[in-house]
Amino acid sequence: MTNLQALPPFRLGVCYYPEHWPESMWDDDFSRMKELGFSIVRMAEFAWAIFEPEEGVFDFSLFDRALDSAHRHGLQVILGTPTATPPAWLTQTYPESLNVTLEGVTLQHGMRQHTNHTSPIFLELCARITLKLAEHYKDHPALAGWQLDNELNCEMAVFYSESDHQAFRLWLQKKYETLDRLNEAWGTVFWSQTYSDWSQVHLSRPTASPKQPNPHLALDEKRFISDSTIAFAKRQADIIREICPHHWITTNGLFGHLDSHRLTDELLDFFSYDSYPQFSSIFYDEKEEAPLYDRNWSLTLTAVRSISSNFGVMEQQSGPGGWVNRMDMPSPRPGQMRLWTYQSIAHGADMVLYFRWRTATVGNEIYWHGINDYHNKPNRRVREAGQIGGELARIGDFIAGTRNQASIALVRDYDNEWDGEYDVWHGPFSWQSGKAWFKAMQRRHIPNDILYLRESNELADLLAYKILIYPHPAILREETAALLEEYVRAGGTLIFGCRTGYKDERGHCYMLPFPGTAASLTGISVDDFTRIKGTRKPVDMRWHPTVPDANGASKPSLAEGQAEDVAAILTRADEFNEILQVEADEVTVEAVYASDYYAGKPAVTRRRVGLGEVWYFGAVFNPESAGHLLDRLHAESPTEEWLRLPAAVELTLRSGNSGTYAFVLNFGDEPAAITVLTPKVDLLSGSTIHGEYKLAPYDVLILMA
Ligand code: GAL
Repeated sequence: MTNLQALPPFRLGVCYYPEHWPESMWDDDFSRMKELGFSIVRMAEFAWAIFEPEEGVFDFSLFDRALDSAHRHGLQVILGTPTATPPAWLTQTYPESLNVTLEGVTLQHGMRQHTNHTSPIFLELCARITLKLAEHYKDHPALAGWQLDNELNCEMAVFYSESDHQAFRLWLQKKYETLDRLNEAWGTVFWSQTYSDWSQVHLSRPTASPKQPNPHLALDEKRFISDSTIAFAKRQADIIREICPHHWITTNGLFGHLDSHRLTDELLDFFSYDSYPQFSSIFYDEKEEAPLYDRNWSLTLTAVRSISSNFGVMEQQSGPGGWVNRMDMPSPRPGQMRLWTYQSIAHGADMVLYFRWRTATVGNEIYWHGINDYHNKPNRRVREAGQIGGELARIGDFIAGTRNQASIALVRDYDNEWDGEYDVWHGPFSWQSGKAWFKAMQRRHIPNDILYLRESNELADLLAYKILIYPHPAILREETAALLEEYVRAGGTLIFGCRTGYKDERGHCYMLPFPGTAASLTGISVDDFTRIKGTRKPVDMRWHPTVPDANGASKPSLAEGQAEDVAAILTRADEFNEILQVEADEVTVEAVYASDYYAGKPAVTRRRVGLGEVWYFGAVFNPESAGHLLDRLHAESPTEEWLRLPAAVELTLRSGNSGTYAFVLNFGDEPAAITVLTPKVDLLSGSTIHGEYKLAPYDVLILMA
């Protein structure tokens, strides 16, 4: 859900920590923020020890003065609830608030997020500080909205304190009612794990092979963590809603074991994200061909957009990142901070705040560089921020409220993500295939969305897309399979990869031929299969030389054994090979395996069903096979008629009442040669572009389409 009223007009701003600086600096800081074109600051999300220096003793004076000063300079304020950093007195007095690792080690004061989300006293103290803050600041004229906590589940996304074990038991009792049903759901008959009393039931604990819980427990554990994190945030949201009905509420970050869609639907006005694209540049796979580096971050921003069509960025990278002992990142090149800002906006951000105003001189983050350096003199990051501030002051309001446009969506769901964290027989495949499709679409300048399938989804949500790619839904409920069938019958094109449909929502394997609940729709079965690993080298798929026409008119199938005869279009069949068997008349074989004992056997099938079609691809996708499928489906860039872009450039489209904007982002360190076939106005410069145009490294165009 996005509450668009909460977002426009466009806001640019910065994270500011008044408690880190002498008060004599504040006025100058706020006035320079204004000069750069900023209109909003976020503060207080780590300041619990300042607000409540002793239990039950509250002191708002420092932030009163900070908010007043920000207000005098015409800046709005976002206040964070400070619950990610409880004071030392709290965990000393109430050690039951502390989180515990799987191995049973209790985490101690000294970092942040070292507490759990279930201990009753901690929940109460969090509720009280939230209430005090809301009551105290509800009428402050600078206050625009609230951020709940900070990056829920970031430092740790598992919780094993005593109160978590107890809460898990209650959660299970609600879900399963009886121990018999729990035993059945977790398959405890295997290895004599049967529970005979609820007190024997725990979250994961160290086992004979260290981290080897029952897989069905492991899946429920993640659902439980998500529910308790949402309940933790809800207590705060409910308090703020009641006391501050005119302020909006958000939270920031996309972290593990948290259904951020439900969190947003139930608690927030809009979701926010913390955008640090350089994580994609420093942690890329060195073996990957033509990696996307920082552009790969756009895939994560796409996931953020699936939660909130228009979102906030509470922390936008503005300098090299680093902690004292890790994450030593290079400096963004001149222009990259601006590029990354527009990358967020191109994907749906209507509010962007930089992290942070000035680099901290103390603590773990003395190398997480902000806009200003310690010396506080103008530097190139300050100048770049000023350029962006000037631009967005002119154009931001045109863009705010417009929505991203895409006709293809990658489908994901939490059950498979969480099950796949543990299950190496499908989990890693989804990440590889998702990235492969993303890369193939990026190279062809086809903007895509991500659709998280949830029980609340209706047919219309699916029909918003011409093509849905659901790479490896190992868990596929019958109801989900039925909804997908409706989508295909109504005209959609659906693509599955290997390992589809063989588990139910508990993670039990169906006693059905693969692909289980997807078999009747796809009209195939999996005759044989193998993991590709060690001595089992990947084989190729040989594609039918005739590409189906744009209307999908049928053509002869590849006959078995024909593999050697046809002109070769080959793509590699990675990671897992399923040898398919055609079970229904309308199925055509689009590719066969090219070698090994299954040479000539079907690898990719397609079936017309109703007005649409369903494809089954018997392996894990790579950019080449995904790209070839896009070509076979005649998928092309929405700007095909008027814009020619080289591969180094990303394209997104945002559209709304004020018009349609084509964001053209050059992620390359070389100028990009683009061609604009019909004259278009660039919103950033106001000039009309026609014909050949050289887009400078890291530069951006926003063409009014
Ligand atoms: C974010 C966090 C910030 C800061 C930043 C740089 O994850 O919300 O508080 O720590 O990373 O490390």
